[in-house]
Amino acid sequence: MATILTGDRPTGQLHLGHLFGSLLNRAKLQAEYDTYVIVADVQALTDNFHHPDKVRDNVYEVVLDNLAAGLNPQQATIFIQSLVPEIAELTVFFSNLVTLARLERNPTVKTELEQKKDLFKGGVTYGFLGYPVSQAADILTFQADLVPVGQDQEPMLEQTREIARKFNSIYGRIFPEPKALLGDFPRLSGLDGNAKMSKSLGNAIYIADEPAIINKKIKIAKTDPQKIHKNDPGHPQICPVYGYQQIFNAAEAKEIAKECKSGRLGCVDCKRCLADKVIAYLAPLQERRRHYAEDMPKVRDIVRDGTAKARQRARQTMAEVREKMKIDY
Ligand code: TRP
Repeated sequence: MATILTGDRPTGQLHLGHLFGSLLNRAKLQAEYDTYVIVADVQALTDNFHHPDKVRDNVYEVVLDNLAAGLNPQQATIFIQSLVPEIAELTVFFSNLVTLARLERNPTVKTELEQKKDLFKGGVTYGFLGYPVSQAADILTFQADLVPVGQDQEPMLEQTREIARKFNSIYGRIFPEPKALLGDFPRLSGLDGNAKMSKSLGNAIYIADEPAIINKKIKIAKTDPQKIHKNDPGHPQICPVYGYQQIFNAAEAKEIAKECKSGRLGCVDCKRCLADKVIAYLAPLQERRRHYAEDMPKVRDIVRDGTAKARQRARQTMAEVREKMKIDY
């Protein structure tokens, strides 16, 4: 059975961007692959080292969001990164195989550094610049073949493959060259029309958002700026709300486009109808989330068992690594 590894940083609850970008894919593939889901608290600390409480508080939120999305603990192994120290060990060995220049060229790191200018105004940390190395170790500790992720993670996978190749060529072949698996689920833009839904942009609907919150967020979402009055003819093809209609209300989307263009359908009604669809879509996920949240001792057991299994798998890889690197004293 081929192996999947993927995961999330616990810096907040997960939103529809995560859900469509990766979580639904993991849930879909968990029966066919040996699936590991990492709650990447070590990575979260690279840009939240001043906020350990924030990371700590979100570890179980992220676990609950994964369970809500349909990850089945009988099939998938959910674990906490910091509790598998073999990953940190492998990161150290991998750090010899990567140049600083290569890390500085990583497009995802570059974009994030741009967004985190304030945090790193005294200079970028070794830990943050190096997190792609740690992410390569997350993946290769499990000798994973496939990594279901959103498009923004492709540069991380490219760097992971480079590290695997370099390790294999110097020490002997033990690592696969893992591929990103971009979902066949549609990509969701932000409620503000930004191409990416993201917590820091404040344009996200969370998996756990209550109906009242979803209504409120959709009410103030961006629409076609030229459609000011209800009867103005709209341009659905450039309207973020229409993008959502196509996903959450596919059956009626064509009709909605027609009515919007003709000026018969106004944004208020269109949004009300969309909010109902999103709420209905999320209802079974939220039901599952509540079911687990009401039994936190069970959730902690799931994570404890997952972490024990992950650690065992990690020890196997590290034994191979030590042998190849001639440090198996
Ligand atoms: N970098 C990923 C994100 O920001 C989270 C992550 C950490 C991850 N380790 C991983 C994703 C390993 C895939 C594989 O969403």
